[in-house]
Amino acid sequence: MKPVIAICPGSYDPVTYGHLDLIERGARVFDRLIVAVLRNIQKNPLFGLDERVEMLKESTRGMENVEIDVFEGLLVGYARSQNARVILRGIRAVSDYEYELQMAMMNRKMEPRLETVFMLPAETFSFLSSSLVKEISGLGGSVEGLVPPMVAQRLKAKVR
Ligand code: PNS
Repeated sequence: MKPVIAICPGSYDPVTYGHLDLIERGARVFDRLIVAVLRNIQKNPLFGLDERVEMLKESTRGMENVEIDVFEGLLVGYARSQNARVILRGIRAVSDYEYELQMAMMNRKMEPRLETVFMLPAETFSFLSSSLVKEISGLGGSVEGLVPPMVAQRLKAKVR
């Protein structure tokens, strides 16, 4: 049997414990998991692409079948270039479902051989998002327990 390669795409601006929970779950199920960071020009990210990659690399150190990469353009094109069979996404709550369903169906239309697999994060992280983390940190609140300490430090440095 061919090894199953999965892509876990996202903005990761910045990586949270919710993302890491999903990455760990994916790494247990798939042979290779590529965490692919979108070079998103439109979204005007807080962290540059290099910083987002650095934070992911540091937080996934020791996860042997996990690698970090960047992509731009269509996700299906990138998945094809990596011989990936799966797109892995997390669903935190029903509110995520509509957007995720739309993306999964569009991706299937463009590349029927690619399966989108949804996993549920631990319930402790079901309320967590990068946007909220940025907002809290920007307003001087604590993000302890929501992101790795190194990410929290970088968030603080951005506010200063
Ligand atoms: O972390 P995010 O911002 O929710 O991730 C969204 C992401 C990166 C999965 C999505 O924006 C994406 O796949 N972008 C690449 C462009 C693309 O393929 N668009 C068509 C989607 S149907």
